[in-house]
Amino acid sequence: MRVVSGIQPTGNLHLGNYLGAIRNWVAMQEEGECLYFLADLHAISMPYDPAELTANTREMAAALVACGIDTDRSVLFNQARVPAHSELQWLLNGTARMGWLKRMTQFKDKSGKNQEGASIALFTYPVLQAADVLLYQATHVPVGEDQKQHLELARDIAQKFNNDYASEEAPVFTLPDPIIPPAAARIMSLRDGSAKMSKSDPSDMSRINLTDDADTIMQKVKKAKTDPEPLPSEAAGLVGRAEAQNLVGIYAAMAGESVDAVLARFGGQGFGAFKPALGDLLVAHLDPIGERFRALKDDHAALDAILVKGAQKAALMAAPTLAATYSALGLAR
Ligand code: TRP
Repeated sequence: MRVVSGIQPTGNLHLGNYLGAIRNWVAMQEEGECLYFLADLHAISMPYDPAELTANTREMAAALVACGIDTDRSVLFNQARVPAHSELQWLLNGTARMGWLKRMTQFKDKSGKNQEGASIALFTYPVLQAADVLLYQATHVPVGEDQKQHLELARDIAQKFNNDYASEEAPVFTLPDPIIPPAAARIMSLRDGSAKMSKSDPSDMSRINLTDDADTIMQKVKKAKTDPEPLPSEAAGLVGRAEAQNLVGIYAAMAGESVDAVLARFGGQGFGAFKPALGDLLVAHLDPIGERFRALKDDHAALDAILVKGAQKAALMAAPTLAATYSALGLAR
């Protein structure tokens, strides 16, 4: 099992990122050989600030290590340090079809009404993503629901390339399977149960940041929006109560329990009892992460060393597939 996944270095990681993606990455280290990277090359597809990108890439690396990505076991790096990603993307541009890319909903969402003004990188973004995973013969790619379409495209590209340029006995690329975490991992704003928890929400009270200390976490939980009703004793009773559903969902995800199991304990109780329990649970998990993060985040030399070492390992692992791709295409190098 070869696990490969990337995350855009946005900075300000929060509970939604942790429960939605990162925790899953940490767990998958038990299952197979993992390569995780900061998708800094993808970040240039939208307007951005170069200095901020450098800072966010380091910060995200610190957060991943703090959350439990073990750099002795897994390969952690930033894309830009491994030129094979860009190279393979160009080679795959010969196989990807305009029609396939035009169907990608993320391009439509991110370019909005101004498709003519969008960067070419935003359009070909999914081809780079395909290169990211095909380069390492990934078998499993943990992603959010929103990235499923890009993974299907990666499979289509791999299949067409194998068909066009390789024999059935010796395919160049492995077709990767997406791994989508359960819907329970959808974490919403603490101020509005119908909006996703987001780093761009103007209210800091809407999210729990991985950098928040114990007091801040507890305070945010206690101030979270709720309704006056006591908790129901089964999941069906949460329908139409978005805020209650979110808080119970967070508890269940963090504790690794089902929503029904949580409600079996807390059903009939009000938020006055539930919120402190949720706060304690979050603090117990997040406080050690925050501590490790704060200790590491300003140590640029240590973070760069981690990423350089990871990139060296990744480049070695990428080399055979890259060579096979050039060769299959009849390109001498
Ligand atoms: N596009 C992904 C996202 O925004 C990040 C990403 C880049 C990725 N390359 C990848 C995810 C390869 C999985 C595999 O979430």
